[in-house]
Amino acid sequence: MKDFTGKVAFITGGASGAGLGQAKVFGEAGCKIVIADVRQDHLDEAKAYFKDKKVPVHTIKLDITDRKAYAAAADEVEKVFGSPPQLLFNTAGVNTFGPAEASTFEDYDWVIGVCLGGVINGMVTFVPRMIKAGKGGHIATTSSMGGFMGGATTAPYSAAKAAVNNLMESYYQALKPYGIGVSCLCPGNIKSNIAEAVYTRPKNLENTGYNVTEKTIDFLRTIHAQGIEPVELAKILKKGIEEDVLYIIPVPNPEQMLRNTLERIVNYASAEGIKKQEEQMRKMFEEMAKRQGPAPGPYANMGDVGFAQARKDITWVKPTGMPGAPPPKK
Ligand code: NAI
Repeated sequence: MKDFTGKVAFITGGASGAGLGQAKVFGEAGCKIVIADVRQDHLDEAKAYFKDKKVPVHTIKLDITDRKAYAAAADEVEKVFGSPPQLLFNTAGVNTFGPAEASTFEDYDWVIGVCLGGVINGMVTFVPRMIKAGKGGHIATTSSMGGFMGGATTAPYSAAKAAVNNLMESYYQALKPYGIGVSCLCPGNIKSNIAEAVYTRPKNLENTGYNVTEKTIDFLRTIHAQGIEPVELAKILKKGIEEDVLYIIPVPNPEQMLRNTLERIVNYASAEGIKKQEEQMRKMFEEMAKRQGPAPGPYANMGDVGFAQARKDITWVKPTGMPGAPPPKK
């Protein structure tokens, strides 16, 4: 898609971070914007931002895990803008960190429910409507670099994002005949409010195996403060949509990053390779530690605040160092 003028864009998680960046960039490009988000305060802030802008913006309070509410939101879009969206941005997502072995069912149900289930709900709700409208379009899902690798303290998130990558590739092939493009954006770190994701965690899923406190939330804030600006990221996404690229990887050398990913999988497929991989990871973490140096480097106080550790009463879990770091060489 190259011309965005007058297109209806539905953005989940559009009231904050990456989604708000998309609302700004695609609004500027001529789209009518629907911002769907579970946080009313974020919706209010986004509404206030667009108040004086010449962009038609409609906001909907929506929990993307609620299929009935999702269908009602889709009906509302057709009523307000006269057509289903030509652009669907599956951007809403949540994360939480802790040792895989301490994860509860609720950790999985929440993170996978939003990050994968919410995307599935978006596709099942909107794809038939978009096809029937016959106007073509584009679907862009925000995944993560985490989708290309597992991590000792990111199991639910990495699993959800890996599945999202795979799902988008299936839809990329399936929707081509309908003139609907599909992209999967895989960023590293974004300057966003995702550190606060736990505030949206539903009561019935609050049982976590991880140590999540105001201190760990504050720690995460310092990490995400160093991420890419959402508007910059949305501009990269727009270019990818214009070029109809499936995997949009906003790093300086995406090809090298993907080759490293494949090499990692090849390494994990043999005993020799595993030795090589562990050596490479050990070096990488050593270099990172050197680069970040003493406080206030981003990971310096990770252990002190108890970030990515098990819940305090789970005593059988070994403390983790850097997320995903192998144990030091003896
Ligand atoms: P953010 O927290 O600033 O924005 C996400 C928005 O989604 C929030 O406004 C939140 O209220 C909303 N949301 C959460 N659960 C929802 C639900 N069930 N239904 C509807 N809305 C919901 O975070 P950010 O970073 O902008 O996240 C956007 C996407 O980017 C997510 O999919 C995330 O996984 C992905 N991502 C984030 C990275 C980062 O470093 N922040 C890195 C890579 C990917």
